[in-house]
Amino acid sequence: MTNINTEANTAAPALKGQGKKLFIKTYGCQMNVYDSERMAEAMGSDGYTQVDSAEAADMVLINTCHIREKASEKLYSDLGRLRKLKKDKPDLKIGVAGCVAQAEGAEILRRAPQVDVVVGPQAYHRLPAMARAARAGQTQQLDTDFPTEDKFDNLPSARAARGPMAFLTVQEGCDKFCAFCVVPYTRGSEVSRPAARILDEARSLVDRGVRDITLLGQNVNAYHGAGTQGDLTLAGLIGALAKVDGLLRIRYTTSHPNDMGDDLIAAHGEVPQLMPYLHLPVQSGSDKILKAMNRKHTAEQYLRLIERIRAARPDILLSSDFIAGFPGETDSDHAATMDLIRQVGFGAAYSFKYSARPGTPAAEKGEVDGDIADARLQEMQALLSTQQYALQATMVGREVGVLYEKAGRLDEQLVGKSDHLHAVHVTDPAGKIGELVRVKITASVTNSLKGQRIG
Ligand code: 5AD
Ligand code: SF4
Repeated sequence: MTNINTEANTAAPALKGQGKKLFIKTYGCQMNVYDSERMAEAMGSDGYTQVDSAEAADMVLINTCHIREKASEKLYSDLGRLRKLKKDKPDLKIGVAGCVAQAEGAEILRRAPQVDVVVGPQAYHRLPAMARAARAGQTQQLDTDFPTEDKFDNLPSARAARGPMAFLTVQEGCDKFCAFCVVPYTRGSEVSRPAARILDEARSLVDRGVRDITLLGQNVNAYHGAGTQGDLTLAGLIGALAKVDGLLRIRYTTSHPNDMGDDLIAAHGEVPQLMPYLHLPVQSGSDKILKAMNRKHTAEQYLRLIERIRAARPDILLSSDFIAGFPGETDSDHAATMDLIRQVGFGAAYSFKYSARPGTPAAEKGEVDGDIADARLQEMQALLSTQQYALQATMVGREVGVLYEKAGRLDEQLVGKSDHLHAVHVTDPAGKIGELVRVKITASVTNSLKGQRIG
């Protein structure tokens, strides 16, 4: 897709947005959350402050997700509501960002004339100029180019860390082309940021009180960014980050099984800051379906990989993504997935009903009956939540690290995340947000743990 309005980038008048209010609505993955923060910072440099409703805003930006049909549809229902709001507030500017913008930019402008700006994920650094042009009267601007410049060089880095946990994008895009997935088309091919930039951003986050950083990438363990002596792997980057003073915890997401290098597996046993939590999507337990999905590994290979990871870090909590009802999936393929789930024992999981996405190879294939796919999804989710609660219950009696994130609902109570990413409630009158404390777990309730501070 091309930029049909390049003059927005160069000829926009110096019309700053001083005093203007921006509302951002974010859908989808953690990278969208990170991107929304970066866009807010960029617009902040242009004078915009963030507000928490469309009604209070001069500009509304919807950061969209294209991964499944339901996620995409939300954009059009939001745009319907905003059209009415714009009737009452004709100066309201409407922007659409994210993966739907990338995939359907021109279509959005056609279907929704009330939209002023459509900006794809690789062009976010140009948003302030596009907003200026919109305020100067230019409407229906589209920028979904994959530019040669690095958007991160042109976006302000994290300034306003909210709390002690933060995301940091280290890699973007994907070259894997799983047959069901739009990501390689919407986010483009794999690009890794240079290690020095990532280290700078991590240090600046730590200066602002961040103690726990999740490294983000669509295929984060394929990271291969430039270091001082050649390219670094993700394990190399984690090693460098572990030397950042004050950074107490490191996590990363999302990984592909085929990119779990030996050094990364070893890092789980060797780097104390690397937390015992790994999200490693498998999608299916049937070799036939894995092949049709173009995952390029078998169920057995995944299981052997899990064994090696557990050998390096026995208490690691494993999480995964699953798809129910991929084209061609039979009852016995589904049974193989249930089997794999039983063999691994997941502590967390995300499972989805297959959704045909335009332009992906799987969308050409005949679909599984919707009711059958629903039933399989339910069966899978029931097993996964049983496993999740069983594993959570094994934490009772154990001593874990907890990083306090916010005040709890009860007096003198703080809530934080354990090493394994469980939410933990602790009554601790002396505790402070941002503190990493030792806690003995005393109870497991529906979606969280309770504990007592011991150090
Ligand atoms: N249908 C259903 N689920 C999907 N995912 C990606 N594409 C689709 C699709 N077309 C799921 C995968 C992936 C997660 C982010 O979303 O499980 O790992
Ligand atoms: Fe999509 Fe992940 Fe497969 Fe890449 S590896 S195509 S992001 S599911």
